[in-house]
Amino acid sequence: MSTLTESTYKRIADIAKRRWGLALGDRKIQLVANRLASHLRKQGGGEIEDYVQRLERNPSEEDMLVLFDILSTNVTSFFRDPAHFAFLERELYAPLARGTLAVPGRRLRLWSAACSTGAEPYSLAMQALELLPPALGFDLRIVATDLSNKALDGCRAATYNEMQLTGLSPERRARFFVKIDPPKDPVKGSPTGPLWRVKDEVRKLVEVRRQNLVEDYNGLGPFDVVFLRNVMIYFDRDTRHEVVKRMYGVVRTGGILAVGSAETLSGLDVPFRPAAASIYLR
Ligand SMILES: C[S@@+](CC[C@H](N)C(=O)[O-])C[C@H]1O[C@@H](n2cnc3c(N)ncnc32)[C@H](O)[C@@H]1O
Repeated sequence: MSTLTESTYKRIADIAKRRWGLALGDRKIQLVANRLASHLRKQGGGEIEDYVQRLERNPSEEDMLVLFDILSTNVTSFFRDPAHFAFLERELYAPLARGTLAVPGRRLRLWSAACSTGAEPYSLAMQALELLPPALGFDLRIVATDLSNKALDGCRAATYNEMQLTGLSPERRARFFVKIDPPKDPVKGSPTGPLWRVKDEVRKLVEVRRQNLVEDYNGLGPFDVVFLRNVMIYFDRDTRHEVVKRMYGVVRTGGILAVGSAETLSGLDVPFRPAAASIYLR
């Protein structure tokens, strides 16, 4: 059986840090070993050491994205951290609807900056549809980015099983999803049972793109709202600082940045102002 030695693990951790800012830490060695072993089994076998040498020598971009998927975590859910959505309702949508807040050109831009399989950007889109009367004529777009192939494929498919919809109210399910028949020949290991697809009126508000958070944000911004949630926990302090500095460059003055409920900007030298728990204003 293929094993992962500590020194090979360190070489993988180096790649992850350099390319994606991921700080794997010592405690993940077993998890990474299991995931690599399972990946190699699916590829027909092979030694972890040979695989890592190949990645170090001359990797294609696709090889690297496969490794990223092996190392990263895509856990997400609809309307995760409801306090963030309550904040948007109170501080953005209610004043916009009342006319006590204006955005230039009635143009509203939101960014789900580590969108995973789509629950976050589609939640943002559903909330906007619920709270922004169409008669007000806002030009609304939600940009959904991630680096992971698995995440981007899931986000584009916008199709979820019962478990992934846990916590979504029956009203939202009825208004924003259509039930579809499960595939006749499901891929082995994929979830069985009914599937639900996000309706077109929601999907058409969301533009899905690949973006590595530690590379330049070319063509992105300015944004009224950025959700950068549950991704900085995977970064070390320097990477968090670098990413939040870049965010400062793409959030408009007065715009909102939400981070995960276990994340904070405190200790990072970037002038976002705290507005509520894990929410900041530029
Ligand atoms: C735990 S999920 C969070 C999803 C969602 N924001 C939420 O809070 O439910 C973390 C996501 O960050 C993405 N990610 C990690 N490092 C990244 C990087 N350097 N660039 C872009 N996305 C990254 C992963 O692919 C994964 O989909």
